[in-house]
Amino acid sequence: MTPSVSYSVSQRIGTILIESPPVNALSHSVRSGILERLRMASNDDTEIVILRCEGRTFIAGADISEFGKPPQEPSLATVLDALESFPKPILAAIHGTALGGGLELALCCDYRLAIETAKVGLPEVNLGLLPGAGGTQRLPRLTGLKTAIDMITSGHPLNANDAQVAGIVDEVSGDNVAQAAMDFAGELLRGGAGKRLTRDIPLQFNDNDTALLASARDTIAKRLKGQTAPQRILDCLNAAGTVPFEEGLKFERQAFEACMADPQSSALRYQFFAERAAAKVQDMSPDTEAASVQRIGIIGAGTMGGGIAMCFAQAGFEVTLVDQDQAGLDRGMGIIRKNYDISEQRGRLSSDQVSSFLSNLKATTDWQMLKGADLIIEAVFENLELKQHVFKQLDDICDPHTILASNTSYQSIDALAAVTDRPERVVGMHFFSPAHIMRLLEVVRGNASDDATLQTAMSVGKRIGKICVLSGMCYGFIGNRMLRHYGREAALCVMEGASPAQVDQAMERWGMAMGPLAVGDLAGLDIGYKAREQLSNEEKGPRVNYLLADRLVEAGRLGQKSGSGYYRYDGATRAREEDPIVSDIIEATRAELGIKVREISDEEIIDRLSLALANEGARILEEGIAQRASDIDVVYCRGYGFPRFRGGPMYAAKVRGLQSVVNRIEQFQQTLSPDNWALAPLLAKLAREGGDFSDIEN
Ligand code: 3HC
Ligand code: NAI
Repeated sequence: MTPSVSYSVSQRIGTILIESPPVNALSHSVRSGILERLRMASNDDTEIVILRCEGRTFIAGADISEFGKPPQEPSLATVLDALESFPKPILAAIHGTALGGGLELALCCDYRLAIETAKVGLPEVNLGLLPGAGGTQRLPRLTGLKTAIDMITSGHPLNANDAQVAGIVDEVSGDNVAQAAMDFAGELLRGGAGKRLTRDIPLQFNDNDTALLASARDTIAKRLKGQTAPQRILDCLNAAGTVPFEEGLKFERQAFEACMADPQSSALRYQFFAERAAAKVQDMSPDTEAASVQRIGIIGAGTMGGGIAMCFAQAGFEVTLVDQDQAGLDRGMGIIRKNYDISEQRGRLSSDQVSSFLSNLKATTDWQMLKGADLIIEAVFENLELKQHVFKQLDDICDPHTILASNTSYQSIDALAAVTDRPERVVGMHFFSPAHIMRLLEVVRGNASDDATLQTAMSVGKRIGKICVLSGMCYGFIGNRMLRHYGREAALCVMEGASPAQVDQAMERWGMAMGPLAVGDLAGLDIGYKAREQLSNEEKGPRVNYLLADRLVEAGRLGQKSGSGYYRYDGATRAREEDPIVSDIIEATRAELGIKVREISDEEIIDRLSLALANEGARILEEGIAQRASDIDVVYCRGYGFPRFRGGPMYAAKVRGLQSVVNRIEQFQQTLSPDNWALAPLLAKLAREGGDFSDIEN
């Protein structure tokens, strides 16, 4: 549909209506349309003008797809000037989400109304940007500095009621935005409301404000380490209360342009579109419909089953949680309750919300209660025979329409489908721990999974707030298959001379949320140990890859759960500390394997770990396991703590230059293990031909 901006008049109230699906972004035609309609409205007998949107939302921001292209007049700044200099009062009527440039435009209107379900926010920081249309200068004039810092540096939106308390909207009412806007406009008219510009509100910072900014700078440097936009946001907020308004606007514009030119923003904008592309299954007919899903069964109330149950209960599904015995259920429900208690104590959830979530959850050992479920997710121990037994049982009990999904990390979805009479309705739904927090969901396509089943898994994933990525069948799917190579290099760096702390700190400084060995401690070193026990020596690979981990487990160091692993952990704070006992174990292991220690630079650590990911990612792409390179990047950023401001392992390789990547891998081939560093053929080909990962779509 072509975007349109229309204008109508009723009862001396003009309405400018923007209709530009899907999210009414401020594209060139929308900007031109608003200007044109303002001109019409200035010449008629209306006394007030409403600005609102058709469709699912108010303006969701500047049009991100125009970024990086030559600017086209009228610019957003021109439109905002026109709104402010318009002679009659303007009322912005908000439904859905007023985000970024959308909220900035509303801040240039004289009055703001929001319906109860609406949200307002300045999420530019998520794109490595800052509000570039006056948001950093106008918002603190309405809300004060503290709220402005919180909103703009976090990017989190406020709901309508909170926005009213914060001073952003004047009125919150009902759910019919058109009617609410007419009513409020009428009220304003009757009260003789006039122009009222946010820019005219005085703002002068005092010592408390300066201290607030300084403390925000420190907190953000720790929380958003390595990111440039948040610090620039604080610079702009500082300007808001220390220089005249016009000068502040100019300062903000320059900072916005600096962000726009920063590679971090390119990477984050790439991630924005990558996450949305991931939801699309390439070869699926566009009219494939997701099945209706309301009743969910979950088998296994352990770490994952409990977290998955929370996700569904919070999204309003009816959840039946099953475990093998009452003790398993009690343990699982106990952890769920404890998680909710903590959220309630920290003010993240109200007690009403917690009660409503818990009322959506039924725990039972009676499998017959699963009858009537639309989707069942199995999360029992990682053992094929056990999972096959569970799938057989489910196939017998459940209605024919029920989709059976497995949260397995490694087992074959085909082997599970094979024991059922509904292989087309069997699929992998691989959540990440903690399942109620991590955003990634790998939807794993079995050989027989049909389109409707995949579409249902993707759409249910979206309903519970996950970012879904489709993976084909292979050992470990996309993420864990790559992780083996990343983890191997981390272990080898330690065996060859680095300390666990050096490896972790190098990767954390580079931007990883947590270093690989600390992650091992968090997940539990016994998990890999038990998995290895079931493998042949050949499947396990060279001992140097895992001997240290084995030695730690044999010494009772299972990771955080036992208080020690690669590190020892403070009982109260869980802070990690280097442990001389580990240094001894490392030295003994090196000696056992006859390894001569050398100095390893941080640069080598970063290259080995990040290029091991990119090399395996290229194989995964070439084999058609991932649909696109950007899907692999989404998996790593949303499931494994890879820094989004580096775009993901494939994007980072592209930015480095594929030829440079190939050269470095070839160097590793010569100096390290040639088997570990066999170059992915696709990587070699693209580097040779000057191609790019984005040329490949499976
Ligand atoms: N520009 C261009 N396209 C956008 C867009 C935007 N600002 N926001 C969303 N879209 C597109 C998406 O790419 C997607 O396209 P597709 O269907 O082709 O994949 C489509 O709109 C629907 O988006 P979602 O799948 O995300 O829809 P949801 O309903 O899940 O979410 C939303 C809607 C909450 C509005 C979400 O899209 C969102 O958060 N959008 C981004 C908002 C944002 O970051 N705004 C700030 C932009 S920067 C800015 O304004 C700079 C200014 O300060 C000068
Ligand atoms: P867990 O050991 O915490 O929980 C497993 C639960 O299954 C236990 O409560 C157990 O009582 C129950 N169970 C065992 N047999 C059962 C049966 N026959 N019927 C009903 N319930 C039964 O295991 P966890 O960590 O939750 O893992 C579950 C699955 O999720 C595994 O396949 C694992 O590979 C996968 N996974 C685990 C992740 C993690 O980080 N822990 C991450 C992603 C996937």
